[in-house]
Amino acid sequence: PAHRPLVGKTIVVTSGPTVEPIDPVRYIANRSSGKQGHAIAAALARLGATVRLVSGPVSIPDPEGVSVVHVETAREMKQAVEKHLPADAAVMVAAVADWRVESEWGQKLKKQPGGGAPTLRMVENPDILAGVGHHAERPRLVVGFAAETQDLLANARKKLEKKGADWIVANDVSHEGGVMGGDRNHVRIVSKSGVEEWPEMTKEEVAARLAEKIAEALGE
Ligand code: C5P
Repeated sequence: PAHRPLVGKTIVVTSGPTVEPIDPVRYIANRSSGKQGHAIAAALARLGATVRLVSGPVSIPDPEGVSVVHVETAREMKQAVEKHLPADAAVMVAAVADWRVESEWGQKLKKQPGGGAPTLRMVENPDILAGVGHHAERPRLVVGFAAETQDLLANARKKLEKKGADWIVANDVSHEGGVMGGDRNHVRIVSKSGVEEWPEMTKEEVAARLAEKIAEALGE
């Protein structure tokens, strides 16, 4: 029989960027291909989990065996994630925009002769992971990601606390032409009990190994 330790478990996954409109034709977004988040959703589904993937706009196909909600903004993503609670686990992989433009212009901003450039006033977006980590219906296992360019482990430990996560999957994105949009990843799993460093491998392999680790944790 197939190895399906996650049968009966529901897991919410976020993936991709969020996109925050400026006016009807312009937006601010984070750099994210969705490759890692989608691979994790697929790997969890292969182990038998009922996976609810909430994805920002990406150019890759919906993973097989997964129900997908497509969203654009951080606020839409938060709403979709919370609609899927209660769940046994949450894995928040999306690159959520930290800020959005305070009020979206209803019409396309036009260049005015001699008018100069517009000033964008930004406001903070909700932190979806922190919302789940501190939710009344908090999943038993809450996993976040942290893409850092410096002080990787110190920042990951701070994130564990602040966001109420059980694990932070930390990856160093400081190397040129590396993780962003690429097919490989080098991660460390930071939890209260310490740091587990995994060798560099493909995003598919990271996904498969993380799915197994999640199955083990939920099986305890
Ligand atoms: O604080 P930072 O953006 O580095 O945290 C990354 C982690 O938090 C990721 O798991 C990401 O999906 C999540 N996050 C979120 N909502 C935000 C910002 C980050 O869920 N507004």
